[in-house]
Amino acid sequence: MITPQDLFLQRRKFLALGVGAMVSPLLIDELMAQTPYGKPLDYLKDSNTSLKPTRESDATSYNNFYEFGFGKDDPKAKSGSFHPTSWKIQISGEVQNPMSIELSDLLKSVKLQERIYRMRCVEAWSMIIPWVGFELRELIALVKPNSKAKYVKFTTLYDPNVFPMQKSLFSGIDFPYVEGLRLDEASNPLTLLAVGMYGKPLLPQNGAPIRLVVPWKYGFKYIKSIEKIEFTSTQPLSTWEKQNPREYGFYGNVDPQTPHPRWSQASERVIGERGRKPTLYLNGYEKEVGYLYEGMDRSKLY
Ligand code: MTE
Repeated sequence: MITPQDLFLQRRKFLALGVGAMVSPLLIDELMAQTPYGKPLDYLKDSNTSLKPTRESDATSYNNFYEFGFGKDDPKAKSGSFHPTSWKIQISGEVQNPMSIELSDLLKSVKLQERIYRMRCVEAWSMIIPWVGFELRELIALVKPNSKAKYVKFTTLYDPNVFPMQKSLFSGIDFPYVEGLRLDEASNPLTLLAVGMYGKPLLPQNGAPIRLVVPWKYGFKYIKSIEKIEFTSTQPLSTWEKQNPREYGFYGNVDPQTPHPRWSQASERVIGERGRKPTLYLNGYEKEVGYLYEGMDRSKLY
């Protein structure tokens, strides 16, 4: 993603400006009281897997959320003033029932469940996360896409008062962060909109209050703090594809045989464990999602 050299130059500029002072993180209890749903999550446990989750303290402190900075520790350290208390999501485009809905109301119409999934970042590290969320296809059924809808576009909240990097001249990223899926990918039962992890509402650094989870794709597709969902007839241009099309594509499918132009994707560093393990095609979910890519050139799905 951002190269160490970019980071070095940008860091120097931030320091020169005195930007990036540490804000103390919120206590989890305080945050739970401030979430739109304000109470511990009620969900169906995942009994389908033997995957052992990554330590919660690792998953909530080693993050990518460039709206707060480029360091892995920036999202936790700098998101203390992000309080997503009431959160509206706009759903529009090629649908029969467009809506602007409070997250707390949306959650009354869907089934919250836990899914313990592997998560593989394009930077070649991985974790196992016990998500709490609902299948995106439940939301799709509520808004009823029309026959022109072929893609789903997601946009993160744009609010430079909350996300300091959105007003930084040096971020190098064209915010707000945008991601997209084909409608059939979005409709696959594995695709979730997550509102929690480890049985609790999402913390700011993990994309509170709602984010995308697509376990067979690289982590950059898992867009955080989603405010807008649009159904489109044309393929959306996602943030990293726009930023650097040579290195990042629309699909972002995990594939050990398709190297990133600057590193191999054949193996991954498992956070919290020693050594590396081989990366699996489609992150191990080929049985569930392989049909989506039949007849397509695998090497083009990065
Ligand atoms: N969403 C937004 N809005 N901004 C980001 O910078 N980073 C992505 C993704 N979602 C990102 C984002 C990347 S590169 C990864 S690997 C995952 O979030 C990281 O999720 P995590 O911090 O919960 O592990």
